[in-house]
Amino acid sequence: MAGKLMQAVSYDSYGGGSAGLKHVEIPVPAPGNGETLLKIEAASINPIDWKIQKGVARPVLPRKFPYVPVTDVAGEVVEIGSGVEKFKVGDKVITYLGGGGGGLAEYAVAKESTMALRPSEVSATDGSCLVIAGCTALHALTVTGGLKLDKTEPLTNILVTAGSGGVGHYAVQLAKLGNTHVTATCGARNIEFVKSLGADEVLDYKTPEGAALKSPSGQKYDLVIHCTTGIPWSTFKPNLTTTGKVIDLTPGGGTFWNYAVNKIKFSKKQLLPLIVVPKTEQIELLVSLVKEGKIKTVIDSTYPLSRAEEGWAKSMEGHVTGKVVVECVT
Ligand SMILES: NC(=O)c1ccc[n+]([C@@H]2O[C@H](COP(=O)([O-])OP(=O)(O)OC[C@H]3O[C@@H](n4cnc5c(N)ncnc54)[C@H](OP(=O)(O)O)[C@@H]3O)[C@@H](O)[C@H]2O)c1
Repeated sequence: MAGKLMQAVSYDSYGGGSAGLKHVEIPVPAPGNGETLLKIEAASINPIDWKIQKGVARPVLPRKFPYVPVTDVAGEVVEIGSGVEKFKVGDKVITYLGGGGGGLAEYAVAKESTMALRPSEVSATDGSCLVIAGCTALHALTVTGGLKLDKTEPLTNILVTAGSGGVGHYAVQLAKLGNTHVTATCGARNIEFVKSLGADEVLDYKTPEGAALKSPSGQKYDLVIHCTTGIPWSTFKPNLTTTGKVIDLTPGGGTFWNYAVNKIKFSKKQLLPLIVVPKTEQIELLVSLVKEGKIKTVIDSTYPLSRAEEGWAKSMEGHVTGKVVVECVT
């Protein structure tokens, strides 16, 4: 595809939100050693995408401007670079593009090492959502949280905050694959939705009980997958079992402070900051769980590449139910 141009969406500087996104025509990238060229079918937007635009990872990310954002894509292999062994032209895949981004475009280069095959039972739209959102839920529950997804262990009491969002909707479903009692928080409009994902109890976060994270049946939590912001450690602490852990997916200064204080005090209750980098094996596991009908992706809304800025704005509003996807096939 050397010399061919493609449609893409990029931004030139920090800030600007959806209005900062520009539709551009740029060269189709060429795959290098160990890389493939993908024709992108779908790209899912995560809050980290617009947080990077806001400058949260400055000066590390973006590596340079103009920058084509979004890392989580599903696509078809259309070219392979030298040394690629596991994939061939025509394969449908799901991948994490990493810090270089490139997802809001017709084509992107992906490393073979980050690609998972996408079977026909998993749509490109759904598959693109499994990357950051799915892997984060899976990692938090099973690696940091130590949960087994096979119901062989004693009952674990879990709280998922923002069970209606991108990470939370996977966390509720994955948690229910283990021997668990799951409480989740969400807005009033999503209570039935989050119950339908398998949550045993659901709290409206705008009620006093919801804000206090009080389980209606008086559960204390062994594990909290904290998928929103603005809840202080002092609210979590009385709701935890003696060895309860809160895994904070949006760690700020308060998280690191309380993490350190708990360590110094040898507290058995813990607040753990977590940043997840998606791994291929995790994407593969999630794909197989979707294929087996054990979990599903719920789509809030989809947008063609020509209206990607609307999906960006929707994600920035913070009221997504499930995931926002840009369908890149033009
Ligand atoms: N650490 C990591 O590696 C990692 C990975 C992925 C995501 N994250 C972070 O995790 C957070 C969640 O990501 P996401 O993709 O799930 O976000 P998201 O999909 O945008 O979350 C939106 C959902 O959160 C709900 N919500 C907002 N405030 C709430 C509250 N106080 N209590 C309960 N629910 C609330 C909203 O419900 P309403 O519409 O009813 O308000 C909406 O359904 C973000 O901060 C993201 O950056 C971190």
